[in-house]
Amino acid sequence: MCGIFGIVTEREQELGPILIEAGKRLSYRGYDSVGFATMDASQTVDLRKDVGKVGDVAGGHGVAGMKGLRGMTQLRWATFGAPSQANAQPHLDSTGDMVGAHNGNVVNNAELRAQFMAEGMAVRSTNDGESCVHAVERYLREGLGTQEAVRRACADLEGDYAFVIGRKNEDCLYAVKMGSGLVAGLGDGFTCVGSDLPCLLPLTRKIVRLRDGEMVILRGGGIEVRRIADGTLVDRPAQDVEETMEAAQKGGYPHFMLKEIHEQPKVAQDLLHLLGASKHMKRFVDRLKGARNLYFVGCGTSYHACVLGSVYMARLAGKAAVPVLAPQFTAQYVPALGPGDVGVFVSQSGETKDVLGALEAARAKGATVLGLANVLGSSLMHASDVYLPLACGFEISVPATKTFTNQCVAFLALALRAAGKDLTVLDALPSLIEATLGAVDGPVKELAPTLAGRNDLYCLGYGLTYAIALEGALKIKEVTYTHCEGMLSTEFKHGPLSAVDEGFPILFVAGPEDVPLMVSGINETACRGARTVVIAQEDPRLRANARGVLVLPPSDPLLAPILGVIPLQLLSYRLSVARGHDPDFPRNLSKTLTVD
Ligand code: M6R
Repeated sequence: MCGIFGIVTEREQELGPILIEAGKRLSYRGYDSVGFATMDASQTVDLRKDVGKVGDVAGGHGVAGMKGLRGMTQLRWATFGAPSQANAQPHLDSTGDMVGAHNGNVVNNAELRAQFMAEGMAVRSTNDGESCVHAVERYLREGLGTQEAVRRACADLEGDYAFVIGRKNEDCLYAVKMGSGLVAGLGDGFTCVGSDLPCLLPLTRKIVRLRDGEMVILRGGGIEVRRIADGTLVDRPAQDVEETMEAAQKGGYPHFMLKEIHEQPKVAQDLLHLLGASKHMKRFVDRLKGARNLYFVGCGTSYHACVLGSVYMARLAGKAAVPVLAPQFTAQYVPALGPGDVGVFVSQSGETKDVLGALEAARAKGATVLGLANVLGSSLMHASDVYLPLACGFEISVPATKTFTNQCVAFLALALRAAGKDLTVLDALPSLIEATLGAVDGPVKELAPTLAGRNDLYCLGYGLTYAIALEGALKIKEVTYTHCEGMLSTEFKHGPLSAVDEGFPILFVAGPEDVPLMVSGINETACRGARTVVIAQEDPRLRANARGVLVLPPSDPLLAPILGVIPLQLLSYRLSVARGHDPDFPRNLSKTLTVD
């Protein structure tokens, strides 16, 4: 996820070190490139940017020596356009007199770029941040003042974003909030603005929180907040904030895990924007369709996404894909692999040794290797013939949550494309995830204390929800340190049923198409004393048979499994806290497993 920071001072000073430190504070959001711009008293715009880490780019471009009265930095997480120096932000307007940077997604970027070029503007990148700058330039060319041009530009830019922009021969910066985070700060002799509170906290604790549809005009001595729609002034006094840096990074949530669970509507939306615009999607899909044998390969949570992905692929595109754990892929399938075979290697970190080892083994046999990973610049990304990012930003909590959701979204999008269909069915997903979070939060809070004392649980699913049962069980094990097994519901009678006694908890995840089968499973266990809880859309047959129901909003059956994992993520989080553990950093585990 990108991040922006801007500062305006009353007296010219070395802004480079302030910008570098602000960039470092934004870096927890994840990024692949970084840029810095200053405007000094002689009114030149100094822009330095590159692919790489804040420290490396700053060191390589002498950023510490940048001086000025106004400055900005941006950390870019590639969405529109590959990670490259040209696509790194900030961006200049056609003349080089104005500079700006954004955070978020401008979804009509392609159309806007074509318009700007037709209007004779110098478009230098494929990045949507540049479109924010040219959108303002368009109205300056019509003779409007900067403030009005910024406001008018927002009407042309579709999507969720925030941007900061400044022109030479002025004394201020302008920043807008249109769906992405933006807070302003007031200090002694300076004002500043940033994507989030942590990036401002070491500079000031006097904060003004912007709302969507508002802009802020920053001068060295103070700020003005205005409504973008009509330019009217907003009277919003600064507040003194007391959050610690760590609390601010958690965005008000007690743990990163809970924050990341709640980020899922946003990251799903971001990924859908990205996949809709990605040039790599077609190349990826063509290779899936043309595969002689197709394998989806991962470990842990990423493997579970592979399991769901293979069901999507078969159901939608009529193409069989074998989901397999990476080391077992090496042992079982690599010996039979050859040219024409295709492996999709899936990993949040893109650094898991088991996955990279399997990928190299597949490549050595002449197979095509495709990558799905979250961390840009990861080894998996570099090693893949074609690669798609997951667009989740940084996932800090060890338990994978938002990255699992976006792995499933990516697989569903790929399967739809492989079937020659559009992605319309996915449009509703971000708001359905939001609705699910709202609907199940209370019931999960009530359920968790009743299960917190149990040391054995089962989580059962079938068809599309089989992968969700596996994932829910892994999440519960990982953060509660209890035994929880995920299984195909129909397998339960082939052995585990003997473990059931009075009150034995079993969680069923039921897709709307599998209700009769689930009702059988529920009864088979309930009559032996099991405490059955079902996660499903409202259905009288389930209500009549299960002891408890966590109700999901109605949705297309293809989306139901992705919604079904949310109550299990929340439940595992609540159980972990109830048992006195830190869900973000479970004992014995690491976020990135670079060992055998
Ligand atoms: O980075 P990866 O997706 O390759 O990691 C694979 C597993 O180690 C990972 O999914 C692990 O199972 C998670 N911590 C589960 O929440």
